Amino acid sequence: VITCSAGDTVVIGLAADSGCGKSTFMRRLTSVFGGAAEPPKGGNPDSNTLISDTTTVICLDDYHSLDRTGRKEKGVTALDPRANNFDLMYEQVKAIKSGVAVEKPIYNHVTGLIDPPELIKPPKIFVIEGLHPMYDARVRELLDFSIYLDISNEVKFAWKIQRDMAERGHSLESIKASIEARKPDFDAYIDPQKQYADAVIEVLPTELIPDDNEGKVLRVRLIMKEGVKYFNPVYLFDEGSTISWIPCGRKLTCSYPGIKFSYGPETYFGHEVSVLEMDGQFDRLDELIYIESHLSSISTKFYGEVTQQMLKHADFPGSNNGTGLFQTIVGLKIRDLYEQIVASKSGAPLEATKT
Ligand code: ADP
Ligand code: G6P
Repeated sequence: VITCSAGDTVVIGLAADSGCGKSTFMRRLTSVFGGAAEPPKGGNPDSNTLISDTTTVICLDDYHSLDRTGRKEKGVTALDPRANNFDLMYEQVKAIKSGVAVEKPIYNHVTGLIDPPELIKPPKIFVIEGLHPMYDARVRELLDFSIYLDISNEVKFAWKIQRDMAERGHSLESIKASIEARKPDFDAYIDPQKQYADAVIEVLPTELIPDDNEGKVLRVRLIMKEGVKYFNPVYLFDEGSTISWIPCGRKLTCSYPGIKFSYGPETYFGHEVSVLEMDGQFDRLDELIYIESHLSSISTKFYGEVTQQMLKHADFPGSNNGTGLFQTIVGLKIRDLYEQIVASKSGAPLEATKT
């Protein structure tokens, strides 16, 4: 099927291990673009795709070449490149990017089988999320922007316990065992992709509580590559300087252990980056406006847009800390990037959003 669009699709890659907040991030992103994404209507109920007016999000698990039984027989995990068809992934992402619809396979997470394909038409923004968006050099080249969600082992463990133990009835031992079993392949095939990411959201245990191992209070770092086209890193107070800020004064309510922001230049895998860090959590989300007013280059369209987005989705995981804040900001940066790419193609110069 050939669909004639101008080939204007902007392609975004989002990499992370499963259970690390990709779907939450996608909900924040599509909300910034002005509409919730829904599964395709009338299709396979087990489709992994989400579609909104502007954005289509596909899950790269759909490019598994081995189904659950096949992986068991061959003794490979879903993280192993041998369980995935990168040739097809490349062909189809390239087609979408050039305005051509594709018949994408569906990996059925319920049955573990590969289902008949679904039609994917070229959207304005095409997000490929999953384990390997930056693994294959050909696919990587097609990405206009890439993000890696880097959840430290301690935090991953705390989240898994919360979900698998509380909601799915798994035992502590079995959760530990499953994380340990994935680790070698995770280290070999997933983690190295972060060196290619334009932005990394790193989630670590807090440093505000000595020897904290609860994983509830988080230190979150937004690592932004310098020199990426259409992407100007966010900064705190003074671009390029090194700053440490404890905003708990007259204007921000903080309870123990408080909040600490840091900002400054660093190197990351040999690249120059800017890092914005937030340790701690907000007591009152409406006071976020105070933090927002001190951040620059956040690509908002009006004063308070970050705070508005955060309040709108206060029920999403991470809304009271740096994970929600930085996911929201990255969403705004992606909207800005998209608008700049479209403007550059139409030949009309457009100022980058400066706020
Ligand atoms: P994925 O799509 O990568 O599998 P989800 O967005 O569905 O991940 O999140 C999986 C689970 O991880 C959530 O149900 C929640 O328990 C936990 N989680 C995700 N993001 C956060 C966060 N920012 N803070 C706390 N818990 C989180
Ligand atoms: C990862 C992949 C999934 C896969 C799951 C379990 O989370 O993202 O695609 O289903 O591992 O793999 P298994 O081989 O146990 O079905």
